[in-house]
Amino acid sequence: MPTTTLIEPHGGTLCELIVPEAEREALKEKALTLPSITLTPRQLCDIELLLNGGFSPLRGFLNRADYDRVVEEMRLQNGILWPMPITLDVSEEVARTLNPGDEVALRDPTGLLLAVMHIEDVWKPDKEREARLVFGTTSTEHPAVAYLMHEAGDYYVGGTLKGVQLPVHYDFKELRHTPAQLRAEFERREWERIVAFQTRNPMHRAHKELTDRAAEEVGGHLLIHPVVGMTKPGDIDYYTRVRCYRKLLKYYPDGRAMLSLLPLAMRMGGPREAVWHAIIRKNYGCTHLIIGRDHAGPGKDSSGKPFYGPYDAQELVQKYQDELGIGVVPFKLMVYVPDQDTYKPIDEVKEGERTLSISGTELRRRLAEGEEIPEWFSYPEVVAELRRTHPPRHQQGFTVFFTGLSGSGKSTIANALMTRLLELTGRPVTLLDGDVVRTHLSKGLGFSKEDRSINVRRIGYVASEITKHRGIAICAPIAPYEADRQYNRQLISSFGGYIEVFVDTPLEVCEQRDVKGLYAKARAGLIKGFTGIDDPYEPPSNPEIVCRTTEETVEQCVEKILDYLYQEGYLRKEENDA
Ligand code: PPS
Repeated sequence: MPTTTLIEPHGGTLCELIVPEAEREALKEKALTLPSITLTPRQLCDIELLLNGGFSPLRGFLNRADYDRVVEEMRLQNGILWPMPITLDVSEEVARTLNPGDEVALRDPTGLLLAVMHIEDVWKPDKEREARLVFGTTSTEHPAVAYLMHEAGDYYVGGTLKGVQLPVHYDFKELRHTPAQLRAEFERREWERIVAFQTRNPMHRAHKELTDRAAEEVGGHLLIHPVVGMTKPGDIDYYTRVRCYRKLLKYYPDGRAMLSLLPLAMRMGGPREAVWHAIIRKNYGCTHLIIGRDHAGPGKDSSGKPFYGPYDAQELVQKYQDELGIGVVPFKLMVYVPDQDTYKPIDEVKEGERTLSISGTELRRRLAEGEEIPEWFSYPEVVAELRRTHPPRHQQGFTVFFTGLSGSGKSTIANALMTRLLELTGRPVTLLDGDVVRTHLSKGLGFSKEDRSINVRRIGYVASEITKHRGIAICAPIAPYEADRQYNRQLISSFGGYIEVFVDTPLEVCEQRDVKGLYAKARAGLIKGFTGIDDPYEPPSNPEIVCRTTEETVEQCVEKILDYLYQEGYLRKEENDA
């Protein structure tokens, strides 16, 4: 029998909230008579850690008194340290149907029952106060504040949970452990001193060196504990990351390290989040946590000012270290010293010693341009994994999105561009022209602001799917509103290239051309709400390309777009030669 020498969970007991099997059927039966709440992706992450004991000593979503004290003092009502409000947010409409003393069924989006909540409080929180005290800012440039203000419901429901089952995962099953399972695994391996490495990024040689040193420093073993719940928008997807971690794992000496996935929804809350991470790792049985520079920080705001100081997180965790009972291993920034072919913490680098490093931005650039990634930086297998999901630009999909007034020449240029792309690349090209879309995809929609918005975003969605599948989409609606174009830009750029082309033909010229006779009808009042006549057109603020059809021929416009595509690497000359 292994002896239990593992660290105590936070608050003394591991609070697993799944009810014993004998009670489960009755609970499911009862839930059929209760109102239900369908959990959002973030709430699903939170409930998983509530139910599996990762958030011990919490026994449910915070009630009002706990919430108030957590926000103000980082403590639960009973005095136990707890830095992050774990709340169940709902809309006002839902809140009106719920009362203290009631029960409510909590379900995943497929309707699967996860838990029954005994409601203690329903209240409208002061979100501004929460943002200020928990995240230190009310700026919606902070992702957690943006979530709080724009996505979270306006009411919170607090109460204890009776768990029926954990959320279901079909991926990486062998790498997912509850705190109890991980503790049992540590005991089986007879690991006593365990240092956890928290990450939301791929790991390279610097991280390998750092984690090796940390394990040596504590005289123990290493748990690579990446977050696979929700991380910062724009991060590399966790499927890719986990494949990379697996490749890296074999570089550790036998028996030193293990990998387990943490289904946490990060808030990017810096110092408070670091304390939270420490508590979670303690619940999972770790004795130490590596805390780096700007741990769980969201980076800088648009004026270039960081939300948190670089060492605020380390300092806050160290301040509560005794109470937390988990050790902090401060993360030293590791740099490569080429003359000694070794990695060193930056504070050990001697004056005049040459160092090298590659930033995340530089890595993304090299991947996009298919450039070499040196062996000193990462392992060939890790780079190969990254290249699979981040191919160079000429293998990525892209969307050329034309916008301009009716009769500006969008369709003519778009059609000409399509034929040139077919001639040059042999790749599949889909043209989503305004008129054509309205006879198929958007049949039935009119020209109100709302309908135009639906139409343009629908085109954007289809283009984003084409781009994701590495095809070429050409769109040519009027797309009169900047907000819709920005929405599409954001959506499409997450999958590949987005190139906006403003066909800047003056209204007088469009009206003079009046190919379809629609301007004449609009002037005569026969068509209402015609763009440019009695409906607005907002010129784009940051188009990649502007075509002036009063000065340039169709061919010139098309060649200008092709030049841009070659220059940015979306097309390669060789494709032409093939
Ligand atoms: S939008 O605003 O982007 O949703 O418009 P779009 O889907 O591109 O459709 C524009 C074509 O519809 C014809 N049409 C009108 N255009 C503008 N305003 C009004 N009220 C209107 N009614 C019909 C017109 O032929 C547009 O085609 P193009 O190719 O732009 O000339």
